[in-house]
Amino acid sequence: PTTYDLVVVSNRLPVDRSASSDGSDEWTRSPGGLVTALHPIMQRNGGAWVGWHGAPDEQLEDFDHDGMRLVPVPLSAAEVSTYYEGFSNGTLWPLFHDVIAPPEYHRTWWEAYRDVNQRFARECARVAGPGATVWIQDYQLLLVPALLRQLRPDVKIGFFLHIPFPPAELFAQLPWRREVLEGMIGATLVGFQRQSDTANFLRCVRRFAQRPVKNKRIDVEMSDGRIRHVRAETFPISIDTDVIKRLAQDPDIRQRAATIRESLGGRKVILGVDRLDYTKGIRHRIKAYGELLNDGTINVEDAALIQVASPSRERVSSYIQLREDVELAVGRINGNFDTLEHTAIRYLHHSYPMDEMVALYLAADVMLVTALRDGMNLVAKEYVASRQDETGVLVLSEFAGAADELGAAVLTNPHDIEGMKEDIVRALTMTPEESARRMKKLRKQVLANDIDRWSATFLENLDDAATASLTQT
Ligand code: G6P
Repeated sequence: PTTYDLVVVSNRLPVDRSASSDGSDEWTRSPGGLVTALHPIMQRNGGAWVGWHGAPDEQLEDFDHDGMRLVPVPLSAAEVSTYYEGFSNGTLWPLFHDVIAPPEYHRTWWEAYRDVNQRFARECARVAGPGATVWIQDYQLLLVPALLRQLRPDVKIGFFLHIPFPPAELFAQLPWRREVLEGMIGATLVGFQRQSDTANFLRCVRRFAQRPVKNKRIDVEMSDGRIRHVRAETFPISIDTDVIKRLAQDPDIRQRAATIRESLGGRKVILGVDRLDYTKGIRHRIKAYGELLNDGTINVEDAALIQVASPSRERVSSYIQLREDVELAVGRINGNFDTLEHTAIRYLHHSYPMDEMVALYLAADVMLVTALRDGMNLVAKEYVASRQDETGVLVLSEFAGAADELGAAVLTNPHDIEGMKEDIVRALTMTPEESARRMKKLRKQVLANDIDRWSATFLENLDDAATASLTQT
């Protein structure tokens, strides 16, 4: 059997499926930055990607695609509801995002999560070559590092959490907090988006796993009595800036942006782009915008808000509720403020390919990223990367990971509706000099730290940590 030197594991495979003309499956690489960054490394060194292919109750063989080996992990319909919608998105997601929605704790969900994580670990163990590097991604797979180490103590195991790690006072709620931490420290390097996430994690390890922690290093005693070292570090993720820059220069996409602006009648364009998720602060943003229209600060003839809300996790109850709330609020505001010629909020419950997204970024005078909590938020970075003429204003929530790097944005607190209204007005009325000065700084930061640099840094640190972990034991 063939094995691979680099194995990446995430809940979803980085491909989308469609039916080709002869009815067989056709796979295309999904637009995510992670796969774009890792694809060249995988092609060069022989890489495999382990993940779910997105359909319940379907077993698929491994296959080659685009220079990578894809290893589909099957999920039953019951597991989609208990492991994916349940423990991943009804327990961990809200708990790790500061309990904006109440997390639910069910033993049956936890058991399914454990079983599915075990299945992912087995698939990794099967395809990883001797001494291979295995890089595990995100909150759906927190137990895989330790489960994989039991099966394959020879491989280098890295883990990266794309979402926030909560403060110990909140993490304490999780009935399986110790098991989850033990799962994560099966890795040799555990990566986070922000310094505060790394600090929260280390505090939890000390408190709930009773492991000694010194200088971001955790000591783990092995069954033979020797000590293994685990490092926790911060690696803020980014985007493929080359792809965005290329799209932003494309004449067809620039024409499309002009057409979008014309369709709004030359008004100022304010843009929000999010998965329809309660962490994104869409309700707060729309409330603020409605109040600005209501008190006459913004006139429907002068500005339009485009809100793209792409469908997400549509069977989870808090998402169903969110959609109701947002659509009610948008309907009310439009009913009150639209004229026959102008609509106040253009609400789009769709997802769009990256070229259409870049056209929207180019069309937008002001970009609103007002998440209540977000691991990083790549939309903020994509907007900045697409604004080559240094125009445009980014309003960015302090509660998004991106705020640590993008301090030149108009930073806002989305919980403070009055404050956020002032920040939106400030963005709309900013002088071209000030907005250019800010955008220049933002672009410098984003263009100097793209996704290639992020993945290379993580993998170098994993090599170092693995070497140190061995020599010090
Ligand atoms: C976030 C998570 C990812 C997840 C994505 C889409 O960005 O960090 O792990 O894949 O949302 O959500 P979905 O549930 O559709 O995979």
